[in-house]
Amino acid sequence: MKIIAITGTPGVGKSTVASILKSLGHEVYDIEYLARGCGALYSEGMDKVVDVDKLNEKFPELLKNLCQSCDKVFVVGHLSHLLRNADCVIVLRCNPEGLRTRLAERGYPEDKIRANMEAEAIDYIAVEAYEIHGNKVYEIDTTKMPPAEVARAVVAIAEGKGDEFRGLRADWSEVILSWY
Ligand SMILES: Nc1ncnc2c1ncn2[C@@H]1O[C@H](COP(=O)(O)OP(=O)(O)O)[C@@H](O)[C@H]1O
Ligand SMILES: [Mg+2]
Repeated sequence: MKIIAITGTPGVGKSTVASILKSLGHEVYDIEYLARGCGALYSEGMDKVVDVDKLNEKFPELLKNLCQSCDKVFVVGHLSHLLRNADCVIVLRCNPEGLRTRLAERGYPEDKIRANMEAEAIDYIAVEAYEIHGNKVYEIDTTKMPPAEVARAVVAIAEGKGDEFRGLRADWSEVILSWY
């Protein structure tokens, strides 16, 4: 079974793509749901914390029980790249200024908007993904790409036809410089 992780900063469009993939009949699981199923998700105040070792230890068995005859599954969420046995990791990206608009429309408070813009600007999740998964990482810039097109790109990558999305693509340094 091929495991495809879809990760990225809050607001890049993971849940939107997940619902399109589901509507196309793909197997899609939320990483927090799976982590809870592994007994690896804890609450610390307002934050959710994942015991990464426990998640990785229990995950193969849980997945086998959930989906015996699947040839591929998509695991979605900003912690999904922590799955060591993912076969490929897709990091959705968005220009931080575009992210501001999306998160403001979603009613996020200003401090959370800023924190997520900064995390996206410094490639926080992408760097983590490359550290764990190296050349199995793909990036899709969703800034100007409609959700249906993002979903098509995700499926292409999952089918091994996404070489154009391999390796580091997003570069928000111009945006960062405009902040100073
Ligand atoms: N490709 C896209 N282009 C423009 N807006 C998008 C795109 N994908 C998602 N959005 C919008 O951005 C917001 C955040 O999307 P969501 O899927 O909830 O992100 P995430 O699950 O990564 O936090 C939503 O309002 C959604 O409608
Ligand atoms: Mg989401």
